[in-house]
Amino acid sequence: MGRNRTGIDMSPQHSKEMIRDVEELTHAGPLDGEMLQQVRRERNEEADVLGSVPIPGTVKGALKSAMKKLTGRHPEALINKLGERLTFERTGVRIYEAVIAKCEARDGNGNDNGSTASSVGVSLETLQRFCDEEEEHFLLVKDAMESLGADPTAQTPDADVAAVASMGVQRVVTDPRTTVTQSLEALLMAELTDNAGWELLIRLTEEMGLDDLTRRFGRALEQEEEHLRQVRRWCEQGVLAQAG
Ligand SMILES: [Fe+2]
Repeated sequence: MGRNRTGIDMSPQHSKEMIRDVEELTHAGPLDGEMLQQVRRERNEEADVLGSVPIPGTVKGALKSAMKKLTGRHPEALINKLGERLTFERTGVRIYEAVIAKCEARDGNGNDNGSTASSVGVSLETLQRFCDEEEEHFLLVKDAMESLGADPTAQTPDADVAAVASMGVQRVVTDPRTTVTQSLEALLMAELTDNAGWELLIRLTEEMGLDDLTRRFGRALEQEEEHLRQVRRWCEQGVLAQAG
């Protein structure tokens, strides 16, 4: 319990005055959100797409055997998703680094509402291993892109979307005020998405007959499944510890 003053119950007198003033001074029509929806519709109709998938930069790349297998398919769909995983795994490394820094700090001083790394049962070695595995996955995807003649430095449209979508997670884990448990819950969001992303990518390489990539990605997914199980367990322990 703290000095949270955000709720209306904090001051019945002021809330009464506030509600009275709103009724008196606000002359808005009925708020049905129709205008907002109208603006969204218009913008959606006008808008261009979010970038494009670059074509393989080298003729040599396009002639590589893996690419030949994709004749008649749409390799750009795969390159788009590979670009997305590349971005996500790089972000994963950054998220883990921030969580590790948080756990180290929170075990030094107990300024954390009872949520220190040790009270949650977090192992720094395990966190570091997961972080290293995210980096390995990043390099795995980079190699996969190069084997297809694709340029891993190019940002694909879905990479752009993934980077924007994960911004909230990064903001939570790098905020110095968040607890170990809060950071782990943000990390859990990332790991859930990560697992789904690998499953989808493997579905795609299977479908495209890229057996070597399917096998290598399958090993990455096994590691991601362990990350997810473990992070979920830490989150549970953290919340249950807080509840006493
Ligand atoms: Fe992971």
